[in-house]
Amino acid sequence: MVRMQKPLVIANWKMQLAPQESEMLASAVVAEAVTVADAVEMVLCPSFTSLGVVSEVLMGTSVALGAQDVFPVSHGALTGMVGFDELRALHVSYILVGHSERRRVLGETDEEIAKKFHGAIAAGFIPVLCVGETVEEKAGGEREVVLTRQLGILADLSDDTKAAISIAYEPVWAIGTGLACSPEEAAEVHQWIRKTVVQYVSADRLCVLYGGSVDEKNAASFAGEDVIDGVLVGGASLRKEAFLAIAAAFAKVKKAVA
Ligand code: PGA
Repeated sequence: MVRMQKPLVIANWKMQLAPQESEMLASAVVAEAVTVADAVEMVLCPSFTSLGVVSEVLMGTSVALGAQDVFPVSHGALTGMVGFDELRALHVSYILVGHSERRRVLGETDEEIAKKFHGAIAAGFIPVLCVGETVEEKAGGEREVVLTRQLGILADLSDDTKAAISIAYEPVWAIGTGLACSPEEAAEVHQWIRKTVVQYVSADRLCVLYGGSVDEKNAASFAGEDVIDGVLVGGASLRKEAFLAIAAAFAKVKKAVA
C-alpha cells in the first residue's frame, strides 16, 4: 500500500521517569534514531516535569515531542494545569488525549476529552485520541458501542479543518498487561474505526495506531497489517533497545511517501 504519511511510533513514558532519567533516555533514543528517521515519525511523550529537558534534547533532531495531556486553554490562573502556550513554547507537536488511565482514574469524560481534542487542533497541535473498551465491555459485546461513543467527538470537526488527526485504538485489557490484542483482531477494529470516522475526516489526514502491550517481539506483526499506521507504546518505550526495535519494525515493513 502506498502511504501518504510515515508510520507513527509514539513513546508514552507516563510518570515513570524523573527529568534526569528522561533526558538520558531521550538522548539515547536520538543518538540511534537516525537509522529509522527517514521511514518513521518517532515521538516521545515525557511527563510535564520532563518536557523541558527532553525538548532541548530533541531540538534540531528528527524525533518529535509529545505531551501526555493538556488543560485546553492557552494560559491563565489555573493552579496545577498546563495549557497550550506552555506546550508550544517547548516545541510540543503531539498531545495525547483521552488515555484510558485518565478516563478511568481521573474520571475524564468524553465532553472534557472533546475540549482537549478540538482545542489542540485549533491551537495547531496534532491530537492523538485514545479509545478502547474494557474487558467487561468486550465480553458483553459492547466494543462497537463504546468506540462509537468515544469517536463521536469527531463529529464536531469543522468541515474546513485540514488538521492531521491520530486515533489510538488501545483496548483497556491490553494496556500494561502483556496481553496484546492479536494483530488480526486489531486490524479488524482499525478497519471499522476508519469506516466509522470517514464521515468526519478524510483518510489521508488520519493515522490509526494500535496501543496495548506492544513490544519488540510483536511489533513486526502489527506493522505487517496494512491498516495499522503505527503504535503507541508504554512499558516497552522505557527501554531504548525495545523502542528502537519497534520503530525499526515499522520502518522495515511500511513504505511511506513524502
Ligand atoms: P503499554 O501501554 O504499552 O505499557 O501496554 C500503552 C499505553 O498505555 O499507551
